[in-house]
Amino acid sequence: MIQRPRRLRTNSVLRGMVRETRMSKASLIYPAFVVEREDFQEEIPSMPGQYRYGLNQLLAKMESLLSQGVDKVMLFGIPDKKDEQGSGAYAGDGVVQKAMRAIKARFPELYLIGDVCMCEYTSHGHCGILDGGYVNNDKTLESLAKTALSQVEAGADMVAPSDMMDGRVAAIRALLDANGHGTTPIMSYAVKYASGFYGPFRDAAGSAPAFGDRKSYQMDYHNLREGIKEALLDVAEGADLLMVKPAMAYGDVIAAVKAATNLPLAAYSVSGEYSMVKTCAKLGYIDETALLCEIATAAFRAGADIYLTYFAPELAQAMDEGRIG
Ligand code: PBG
Repeated sequence: MIQRPRRLRTNSVLRGMVRETRMSKASLIYPAFVVEREDFQEEIPSMPGQYRYGLNQLLAKMESLLSQGVDKVMLFGIPDKKDEQGSGAYAGDGVVQKAMRAIKARFPELYLIGDVCMCEYTSHGHCGILDGGYVNNDKTLESLAKTALSQVEAGADMVAPSDMMDGRVAAIRALLDANGHGTTPIMSYAVKYASGFYGPFRDAAGSAPAFGDRKSYQMDYHNLREGIKEALLDVAEGADLLMVKPAMAYGDVIAAVKAATNLPLAAYSVSGEYSMVKTCAKLGYIDETALLCEIATAAFRAGADIYLTYFAPELAQAMDEGRIG
């Protein structure tokens, strides 16, 4: 026998050398939820180990992330009051804006990314302004752009629109540029599917639509080529980074978008992916660390350069220990 592939698997030093997929803590982004309280911390029932944080607890969490080598955070706000228009999304003293100011004042080295969407702020839970039962695309663009600007003014280093309205990247770019923020990058949730995997997040953020679903704006998961179309449109509109979401069941999409574009590509391992692993581990059916490492590696192997995950601290630790990367 001339070919013995097992030769390269003989021991862990050799296996470590011939790994095809390399990851680093620099690629990780941790999503966090903030509420309008000073002192508050509440575990999210559908996401064991994840919390809704008041400002002080959020700051403590940021400190602990930094100490673990995770220095990028995507912030989601949970406002006390919601309205038809979702005006809390762009309030100067909104929940996310206040939290961003506090984080930047305390930890300027932390890279802050604002999720730009209306669904946490609208009374109906849809990602934009309603016209009858339908989300009006062009009216929503103005709110999204204002939201992005208010986050940047509050200290966001990057904005990430997740609403799936057509033309939002161009609208956000234009308003940021007009206000002197030409160097702030936009990471577009370019290829975002209407997914059952978001269930725990909507529970966490209280953002489930009051009627209907998000299928008239988020993508149909039967479609791959449409994902390329969305990605290319966002490139043309001036996106700086692209995202595919969810991640775990969408490796083919990650690979295809990577091949079709030349922007840095993020994959978002969403709430349902986290909760499935957590719950099975709690029941003793699987080994949590083994699974979270394997699932993350799959996203990078598919082509992701950046990975958003509620398991960012655990992954950072696994990398420190040499289990992956
Ligand atoms: C806001 C938004 C959602 C997620 C990220 N941004 C919810 C949704 O689209 O319904 C989901 C994140 C997750 O499930 O972890 N539009």
